[in-house]
Amino acid sequence: MYNFELAMFNPSSKTIGMLGGGQLGRMLIQSGMDLNLAINALDPDKNAPCHYLANKFTQGSLTDYDTVYNFGKKADVITIEIENVNVDALKQLEKEGKEVYPQPHIIETIQDKGLQKIFFQRNNIPTPDFFLIDNKEQISKYKEFFPFFQKLRKGGYDGKGVVKLADVDNLRNAFDAPSVLERLVDFKTEISVIVARNKKGEVKTFPAVECAFNPEANLVEFLFSPAQITRAIEKEAQRLAIDIANKLGIIGILAVEMFVTKSGEVLINELAPRPHNSGHHSIEANITSQFEQHLRAILNLPLGDTGLSSPAVMLNVLGEKGYEGDAVYEGIEETMQMSGVHIHLYGKEKTKPFRKMGHITITAPSIKEAKDKANTVKDIFKVISK
Ligand SMILES: Nc1ncnc2c1ncn2[C@@H]1O[C@H](COP(=O)(O)OP(=O)(O)O)[C@@H](O)[C@H]1O
Ligand SMILES: [Mg+2]
Repeated sequence: MYNFELAMFNPSSKTIGMLGGGQLGRMLIQSGMDLNLAINALDPDKNAPCHYLANKFTQGSLTDYDTVYNFGKKADVITIEIENVNVDALKQLEKEGKEVYPQPHIIETIQDKGLQKIFFQRNNIPTPDFFLIDNKEQISKYKEFFPFFQKLRKGGYDGKGVVKLADVDNLRNAFDAPSVLERLVDFKTEISVIVARNKKGEVKTFPAVECAFNPEANLVEFLFSPAQITRAIEKEAQRLAIDIANKLGIIGILAVEMFVTKSGEVLINELAPRPHNSGHHSIEANITSQFEQHLRAILNLPLGDTGLSSPAVMLNVLGEKGYEGDAVYEGIEETMQMSGVHIHLYGKEKTKPFRKMGHITITAPSIKEAKDKANTVKDIFKVISK
């Protein structure tokens, strides 16, 4: 059917207001430029990665009602690149007729790991067993279920806000705050599926990727695309991601982090309603990138083909241990002599141990070749300080 509204689409007629101005926002702006979109950004840090790239950059709090409301008033479509934002202001903007995607009630559910778990439970979505607690004292009530991962309900990111509790007699590192006590999963691999849904209800997933974590920092170090999993597991992962996107009714992109157990079960770990670290390779290695897909979804445009254009490995460039201060990059020349190696620097002035400073995507004819190159790159490319 001929869609007159879409045929007349003038992308620059709509201003997008984006909450957050970090690297995810920066790559979203990069993608938006191809469609001549105007994207404004709000971030508390005046030197945020989006500062010089946004159509307009506003320095301000993402959790303050008035700041978020006033920023949103000046946009037609409002989106996020971080979920720790003031949801009440977004709900008010939605009430006043602004398009807010993902929808505020979905951000509200996802920004609280406890509410996420309740959502999984109510909708029969497989997830590790858990208990909700209000403080550290309550942990000992569950002593027969150890070991646990304790997760702060709100505000955690990149492994901060997550702690492994091996036994009830050692709770030194436990958080004394509302949190989820999640039973430890002895998983085989961690995978992620990114799914997008637009207003028309069109839904598309990206092929699953495999995530390898840095054990010390609990954050992704390498990512492999495609994931080395059986067809049956891939199918189940895709089915779950689509089911979750439909049950939420989300508009925009959603990253679904999953555990694959040793017996081949797929369990949902957590959700992120925005572009995600596990989709960075899609810039070079998929027909449509996750950033373009998010823009397509929130502007109610047709979703793009998510097929692989190449096997790829993504390597997060993390601040080297033992260095803190003005960032300098070591090994850039050597790295750039290798073919298929794509460096992305986020423009963060200061480095500290394990801070995400950039990422490098390596494309190659086979995943084996890409892995070999990624290991070389990891050895030569370092972020240190002056
Ligand atoms: N129940 C669990 N069992 C085993 N490992 C876990 C569990 N929960 C989390 N982890 C590990 O910790 C990492 C970070 O936890 P996650 O809940 O994803 O928090 P974050 O918000 O920091 O990404 C996971 O990717 C995984 O490697
Ligand atoms: Mg996670």
